[in-house]
Amino acid sequence: MKRYRSTAAAVAMLLLGTALAWPASPAPVRARHGMVVSVEQHASQAGVDILKQGGSAVDAAIATALALAVTHPSAGNIGGGGFLLIRFADGRTTFLDFRERAPAAASRDMYLDASGKVIAEASTVGPKAAGVPGTVAGLEYASRKYGKLPWKRVVAPAVRLAARGFPVSYELARSLSSAGTTKLLSRFPESKRIFLRDGRPYQEGEKFVQRDLARTLKRIQGGGAREFYQGETARRLAAFMQKAGGLTTLADLEGYKVVERAPVSGSYHGYQITSAPPPSSGGTVLLEMLNILEAVPLAEKGAQSADAIHWTTEAMRRAFADRARYLGDPDFVKVPVRGLIDKKYAEKLRASIDPQRASLSSAVGAGDPLPYESAETTHLSVIDKDGNAAALTYTLNGGYGCGVTAEGLGFLLNNEMDDFSSKPGVPNMYGLIQGEANAIAPGKRPLSAMTPTIVTHEGKLALVTGSPGGPTIINTVLNILLDVIDYKMGVQQAVDAPRFHHQWLPDELRVEPGFSPDTLALLKGRGHKVVTRSSIGDAHSIAVAPDGLLLGAADPRLGGKAIGY
Ligand code: GLY
Repeated sequence: MKRYRSTAAAVAMLLLGTALAWPASPAPVRARHGMVVSVEQHASQAGVDILKQGGSAVDAAIATALALAVTHPSAGNIGGGGFLLIRFADGRTTFLDFRERAPAAASRDMYLDASGKVIAEASTVGPKAAGVPGTVAGLEYASRKYGKLPWKRVVAPAVRLAARGFPVSYELARSLSSAGTTKLLSRFPESKRIFLRDGRPYQEGEKFVQRDLARTLKRIQGGGAREFYQGETARRLAAFMQKAGGLTTLADLEGYKVVERAPVSGSYHGYQITSAPPPSSGGTVLLEMLNILEAVPLAEKGAQSADAIHWTTEAMRRAFADRARYLGDPDFVKVPVRGLIDKKYAEKLRASIDPQRASLSSAVGAGDPLPYESAETTHLSVIDKDGNAAALTYTLNGGYGCGVTAEGLGFLLNNEMDDFSSKPGVPNMYGLIQGEANAIAPGKRPLSAMTPTIVTHEGKLALVTGSPGGPTIINTVLNILLDVIDYKMGVQQAVDAPRFHHQWLPDELRVEPGFSPDTLALLKGRGHKVVTRSSIGDAHSIAVAPDGLLLGAADPRLGGKAIGY
């Protein structure tokens, strides 16, 4: 697990041409047999322990995700939902959709007042903002169909962490005591009691024991998804929702279904990219952007050059305009994925880009701007000794979800209903109607941007990646793919590198600190409205060197941890 540098090796790999650069400085964590990279060290360790016990990448991803539900409560969860992309060692791939669903009592205008205005906080705070959780169903489905170890074994580390506690990290202490978290969780007595310790916030190094959560996890360990969706947990959750004014009923829980879907896939400079299909917009938008950029000589322009950022931003602008218009739950609306990721369509979009001047988003397409979404999702990547890979991204949506902890159950509920368009179908000032595909309907899944992604080269596993960050997720993954494929960065360098993001509307180019003032001045000169943001994404990734060495790159932005063996 030691970190090391080898410039000579990196240079050697660059000379080999298309292979991913390996291992450049700064050095990733390297290992031969297995690797888990997540936002939190106890969770990564739980995954690696499972690998060492003979578990597969899928087993380790489940154990890591459940451990994050204990140690990373802002996004790790059993009260939310997400996606798991799996690539088996023989090259087959599959995608498990355990996204939250709108409860049966949900309706298209449920967050509007009598005059048709969106009610502040209605879709973000409190039990009415919660969709029917999918995480436990998804993880148990993955275990039953694709795991090697018994379910009980993979749940065990999370039960232990909740029951015995774990030392609060600097990042968790900071998150729990932040003004935003305090304001949200103080509004709900159960959340205030558990996560804010009734006003005595946890300090770094203190032990955090979660007895209610431990009991819930133990029941799930014994009874699986059946317990969560039909058993005592389900009954208590439904009773709590009824009392608290939420919409989720026992029938909603009993009716929850995981959907196994074919991932979207495409090629970029000889690499095969496999990623998230609808109801995520992630894979579709990612491939649309890569297709636009494939004929642009980005490598010649250079990483972080104004010219490369200009072209990439224009690709982002166009693909995100399509996202707002076309993407939604494919079980409810027709999503033209094939058309959107067609290389001929990308040619047309590329031809519309002025090499010297920023386009106006209002001219590219016009409609309701997407609000910026919360960065509080989390992604983990796993590869096992047989070469199976798992990329799992899951979420409560906002940090600590809707702020509500189900009484006596110990876990936070999501506010995923906010990922629907609360007010679709209203013509904007240009007369265009937006967001119809993502309107609220009972049983529907809200549109996501989560982009768990696996890259192969000549049939060999090359990269596993993904990120939190709402729509910035897709561009974080794009930044990383361009950094490793076009700019030949090592995986850790790519993960560390400053990122940029444009989502069509609002018409602004968000950049992390780290770009040179000259570059930003050139971009402004071309008409880009540049705004600096402290942090974009948190992309825990693994690259595979040509000789099979696993290179784990934790994203330093939230203190992530790569552990291999
Ligand atoms: N809630 C974040 C996403 O699904 O994209």
